[in-house]
Amino acid sequence: MGSTRNLRKVLPALLALIAGTAGCRIDMHIQPYYRPMAKSDFFADDRSARMPVEGTVARGNLREDAYFYTGKIGNNPGDFLPFPVTAEVLDRGRERFNIYCTPCHGRVGDGNGFIPTRGFRRPPSFHIDRLRKAPIGYFYDVDTNGFGVMPDYASQIAPRDRWCIAAYIRALQLSQNATSSDVPAGQKIPSPPPQFRDIGNGATLPEIAPPTTETKEEPK
Ligand code: HEC
Repeated sequence: MGSTRNLRKVLPALLALIAGTAGCRIDMHIQPYYRPMAKSDFFADDRSARMPVEGTVARGNLREDAYFYTGKIGNNPGDFLPFPVTAEVLDRGRERFNIYCTPCHGRVGDGNGFIPTRGFRRPPSFHIDRLRKAPIGYFYDVDTNGFGVMPDYASQIAPRDRWCIAAYIRALQLSQNATSSDVPAGQKIPSPPPQFRDIGNGATLPEIAPPTTETKEEPK
């Protein structure tokens, strides 16, 4: 009968264990709470949902670096990127530019996007003197706040990506206004493919057929 004796010995401990794990733990399971937007009798304004304390900043939204978020120093656009320009930054800028800006501004930023051929105002070319001289923070500001009929892209494009786009626009401006003297010594300039046209200063732009209103006959 050795096993019964053993059982008698461990039984008190076993019972204590069961009582300890299962007993009397409903205190945290049932507690008072408000359903979302429910009325409260406790607060004077009857709202159960409280406003955040004044000056509350959502996590990740402490916009300490004003230049990074506005592109401006005081009221004027600054002329530098708030982080180093690398090949990765320009690649990212090209990708985002091609997604968000080319429908109107065209791949090279000459304003020959598709949307203007359907009646939207044609944007100015980025290669006009005024915009070539514009500080880089200006492009960031236009993306962030919009300009004239152009909507802003603040909610679609994250701040860092807006800077990448601004950097890429500057690169486009340099590329579209480059001359043979900008080519490093000893490097050959390949002749442009036939679908590109010479715009006279050594740079080339893709040929885009002017919009036509005539209805063409379908080829048979
Ligand atoms: C839906 C078409 C459209 C898209 C997309 C668009 N733009 Fe524009 N953009 C315009 C038009 C139109 C203007 C001219 C607005 C005006 O004069 O009222 C303009 C003007 C500008 C200007 C020149 C402002 C000036 O001083 O003349 C900049 C810079 C610019 N856009 C940058 C961008 C960038 C960067 C993107 C992509 C993030 C972008 N745009 C996307 C239509 C667009």
